[in-house]
Amino acid sequence: MTNIRWLVDLLKDISDVPEYEAKIIAEKQLDNAEIEQILNRRRQGEPLSKILEEKGFYKYIFKTTSDVLDPRADSEILVESVSEFVPDTGGSIKILDIGTGSGCLLISTMMEYQNAVGVGIDKSEMALKIAQENAQAIAKDKNISFIYQDIICDNWAKGLGQFDIIISNPPYIKSIDIDGLDVAVKQYDPMLALDGGEDGLMFYRQLAETLMPITHEKTKIFFEIGQGQEADVTDLMQQNGFSLLATRKDYGNIIRVLVFERG
Ligand SMILES: C[S@@+](CC[C@H](N)C(=O)[O-])C[C@H]1O[C@@H](n2cnc3c(N)ncnc32)[C@H](O)[C@@H]1O
Repeated sequence: MTNIRWLVDLLKDISDVPEYEAKIIAEKQLDNAEIEQILNRRRQGEPLSKILEEKGFYKYIFKTTSDVLDPRADSEILVESVSEFVPDTGGSIKILDIGTGSGCLLISTMMEYQNAVGVGIDKSEMALKIAQENAQAIAKDKNISFIYQDIICDNWAKGLGQFDIIISNPPYIKSIDIDGLDVAVKQYDPMLALDGGEDGLMFYRQLAETLMPITHEKTKIFFEIGQGQEADVTDLMQQNGFSLLATRKDYGNIIRVLVFERG
């Protein structure tokens, strides 16, 4: 059995690992060679979550690999916003997550509802596999399905029906800014999860133009956005028949979530 305190302190010292994640690693029964391997990978900048293939998000532990964006603490604000604007009444709720990745947003949101049906879509087969594993591990009794779909086409939403809640944390980094990202992000998160096109708004533009048919009068739409994108994303949505209901800030006091409805 590993000496946990010693290992937690070492991990925190060399790699700025948060106490919570250091504990996850320390609690694993690793031999010296395995610990050395982890420390070497950390020294090269690989996030601990990718090494361990797990990350705490909201109330759960999610599997994460190089095929999915690491769940980010700031994205928890989106999950909280959904519960705030659509409290569970026990009635049936349909939830769509666009660009589901590890499934962290959809699965965490689903767990807040007694009677929800969830659909997660993504253009990455590998991400869908991880999302499915996470759903199986965390939300076994929930009705969640995952669909392969590229949303950059005219009729991606055809046949999906209408949803009460639509959530999305799409890629939103400007292509030109990708090179300047931290190694931990640009080298270990999939490019497909990051690149939001020339102005970073490609996915919001596409969503704004195509979401209407899968909404009804009371649908609430929750977008995670990048720093400073609120005015542009709101404009795009307004041009397509939606209005801004609320904004929510992240732990760094940056507007991170926009809530829209029809009208
Ligand atoms: C920023 S990540 C968000 C992942 C997860 N929802 C989260 O919040 O951690 C964006 C996701 O969109 C997916 N994606 C990228 N381009 C897409 C496309 N054209 N159609 C559907 N999904 C796409 C990526 O594979 C990635 O999983």
